[in-house]
Amino acid sequence: MNDMLAKLDATVRHAELVKAIRKADEAYYTHDEPVMSDAAYDALRLELEALEAAHSDLVNKDSPTQKLGAAPARGFSKVTHAQPMLSLSNLFSEEDVADFLLRVRRFLGLGEDEIVELVAEPKIDGLSCSLRYENGTLVQAATRGDGAVGEDITANVKAIKSIPHKLTGDAPELLEVRGEIFMTHADFKALNEAQEASGGKIFANPRNAAAGSVRQLDPAVTAGRKLGFYGYALGAHSLQELQTQAKILDRLREYGLPVQERVSVVSGVREIMAYYNDILMARAEFGYDIDGIVYKINRLDWQERLGQVSRSPRWASAHKFPAEQAITRLKAIDIQVGRTGALTPVARLKPVTVGGVVVSNATLHNEDEIRRKDLRVGDTVTIQRAGDVIPQIVEVLTEKRPVNAVAYVFPEICPACGSEAVRSENEAVRRCTGGLICPAQAVERLKHFVSRLAFDIEGMGDKIIAQFYEEGLVRSPADIFKLRDVNAGLEMPLQEREGWGAQSVAKLFDAIEARREIALNRFIYALGIRQIGEATAKRLAQVYGSIEALQTAMEAAHDHESEAYSDLIGIDDIGPAAAGDLTAFFHEPHNKEVLADLRMALTIQPYEDKRDLSHAMSGKVIVFTGTLTQMSRAEAKDKAERIGMKVSGSVSGKTDYVVAGADAGSKLKKAQELGVKVLSEDEWMAVSAG
Ligand code: IVH
Repeated sequence: MNDMLAKLDATVRHAELVKAIRKADEAYYTHDEPVMSDAAYDALRLELEALEAAHSDLVNKDSPTQKLGAAPARGFSKVTHAQPMLSLSNLFSEEDVADFLLRVRRFLGLGEDEIVELVAEPKIDGLSCSLRYENGTLVQAATRGDGAVGEDITANVKAIKSIPHKLTGDAPELLEVRGEIFMTHADFKALNEAQEASGGKIFANPRNAAAGSVRQLDPAVTAGRKLGFYGYALGAHSLQELQTQAKILDRLREYGLPVQERVSVVSGVREIMAYYNDILMARAEFGYDIDGIVYKINRLDWQERLGQVSRSPRWASAHKFPAEQAITRLKAIDIQVGRTGALTPVARLKPVTVGGVVVSNATLHNEDEIRRKDLRVGDTVTIQRAGDVIPQIVEVLTEKRPVNAVAYVFPEICPACGSEAVRSENEAVRRCTGGLICPAQAVERLKHFVSRLAFDIEGMGDKIIAQFYEEGLVRSPADIFKLRDVNAGLEMPLQEREGWGAQSVAKLFDAIEARREIALNRFIYALGIRQIGEATAKRLAQVYGSIEALQTAMEAAHDHESEAYSDLIGIDDIGPAAAGDLTAFFHEPHNKEVLADLRMALTIQPYEDKRDLSHAMSGKVIVFTGTLTQMSRAEAKDKAERIGMKVSGSVSGKTDYVVAGADAGSKLKKAQELGVKVLSEDEWMAVSAG
């Protein structure tokens, strides 16, 4: 009876674990949005492995222990890896390391005096990638996917500067290089700042940012993101006479491929642990996220003999770093008000060092998260630097809660202007309704107005904007262009103040003057209308051509029955929500005033359409699929747009042409089913020319 109960428990727990791991895999691999920490994930996997070891009848081919990662996401064509891309088993302690060495020795039947050399190198927390070079030329790049089949990211990888398109030196016929694509902390920070300024997606950590950048359907977006790459192993290849892992790395370097610097050949537990501790201590200096050390048996003949078990090689293992956590006190919860009025809670912490970095703030996302964690001011909390960058609160140590701590009440009025802050039905955020009277929103909007992709006024940083606002020198965007005159009439003009010199003031005014002429798309973007990012602003500029035409159309479109409105939502990229924000913006009386002031002060250049609309292919919808050999995807897309074509990512009844490169898959099939005209790459080259 007890046995039966135990069996039942095991079956139930097994199903729970499988479900949780599957969900986590899908979130991590397919959506690049992890739902749990690495440590929590590892714990689930370990538990599942232990359970299956004890109850072998629970193992089936669908169990996560039998598979790697998740199936490829839609949108990219699939690549079957010539050699599967493996995962690594994990080691968590010195004891685990000793066990690993022992297992290897036993498997190979080595004598006691035989030395087992390992290549040890930092484990980069990025996304793995396989690069295929044929006769020295990069012909294909793929993600790991489920280990057997990944996604074709060739066009995107070609946009990564550190990855050579051609190998240097005496390149072999075939070389598949396995390595990691990652983003440095500095580039991650800059990207998120730019995303924030443009209203784009904010990435949780550098790994997500790298994955999100590589898995863009538009390679031009990847090209704009800074990504790094380090090679660490080989897949299929035609190299001969290689004897060690260390030699492989030397070879990669000779071919011009980036390889990590701090790689070391070590043997024995003592040396291994010394290396591990060295790197752990130096972790913060790397400038990119590393989450452990990878050990690989140096001798390749031994690697061969060791082979693999299910998802991982016996000849390599990952020694994970402990999660960077610390305990501190929650001093306060502050509310920040953003450009669009979103109220974002921020945890103010008693400063504490986490993995070499002093942390005094943590993100709290939104009010639901505070409620979920039942965070109270005065609480002792565990914090963690997720992905090494944005600190998060992991949990509250309730046993340490002060007796007088009260549950946090999220404000329902804006702390900056006192207006009501409301949360609409399907939104996680609460927003201030104060609009233009809210100083916090006004300052954020001004910051956006002068930001790089908008007016790009050099010398007008966040602090200066806040200071000008406070003093009443700049309250609305048009005030920026009156600043020189206003300053001249001040009792204490800027050039006489501390921290300013005549030169820096003159420079600032010159920078402002230089922007009196502005491109229409930048102008639209600068207005900071919700949901109107850089790309949509460009599209609006393209469609409406001039500020007069845009404004007239938007005012007319306020009537949702109007033709102007149906034209507006007919534009791709613009759905009803964005259309609503646009028309509301142009309808609002105060905004009309701001626009009138700006139009007086500025010359807004009509959108210059550089497209050749007389081309025979102009106006047609085209889809590119498969690998192109004569031009990159980005180049093909650019070419198509220049001759007035519309490039789409998916095949539908509206598609006029599909260009099928090598290994075209599902899109080609769909085109054939729908009877869409399919062009070969050569045919595309011919029709797009001229
Ligand atoms: S070697 C079979 N070396 O870790 C050996 N992997 O959990 C191939 N990774 O999928 C892996 N840095 O994406 C190796 N220096 C490194 C690594 C590394 C990061 C990743 C890789 C792999 C995952 C395994």
